[in-house]
Amino acid sequence: MDLKTLQPGASYFYYPRPLCVVGVWDQGKNRANFVPVAWGGPLASRPPLFGVSLSPTTYSHELIAKTGEFSLSFLPWEAVEWVAKLGAVSGRTLDKVQTFGLQLVEAEVISAPLLAQAYVAAECKVVARHLLGDQTLYVGEVVRVVAREGVFADDGTLRLEVATPILYLGANRYLTVDKETLVAVDGV
Ligand SMILES: Cc1cc2nc3c(=O)[nH]c(=O)nc-3n(C[C@H](O)[C@H](O)[C@H](O)COP(=O)(O)O)c2cc1C
Repeated sequence: MDLKTLQPGASYFYYPRPLCVVGVWDQGKNRANFVPVAWGGPLASRPPLFGVSLSPTTYSHELIAKTGEFSLSFLPWEAVEWVAKLGAVSGRTLDKVQTFGLQLVEAEVISAPLLAQAYVAAECKVVARHLLGDQTLYVGEVVRVVAREGVFADDGTLRLEVATPILYLGANRYLTVDKETLVAVDGV
């Protein structure tokens, strides 16, 4: 195999990755803000921790620093167009909920709402934050998870015939999963 050296900080070697949308409450403006996040993922199960890595330049970063809370919404493939658009503008200069006509569901534990179109969503309280290079890793303890009826199988896995996730490939490219490739591997 011929190997080509890539710039570690400038290549998309870790994509595709599942995409989630982080929601934050803006107390001053009395409105919610939403941002797509590809650099996020589960960190622990006891307690349940989920990390999101945000640039300090984002409005969402500022709002999480203020409130110590964020929501996570996982959207089905059908929502890809508007989810992508949420990442092209900042809530500092426009109301994303109004601009994109987002339908919200009130959270029970935190102030930031959830996105109504999500097939699963979670409420998180920040328990740690780490400055990592040019990003901040906000570590949230997941305090509540809600899912659409029938979205998960008995073993807890996502039923792809009900919802397919949005994956990000880098640049302006998105994809979903091919249900036909699903296998259950015996003996592991
Ligand atoms: C698909 C996608 C994924 C993104 N993932 C992240 C991420 O993980 N962390 C981050 O800081 N910005 C990420 N961004 C960029 C922010 O979404 C973008 O800077 C956004 O305008 C910030 O909005 P805000 O200022 O309202 O918070 C992503 C953008 C897109 C389109």
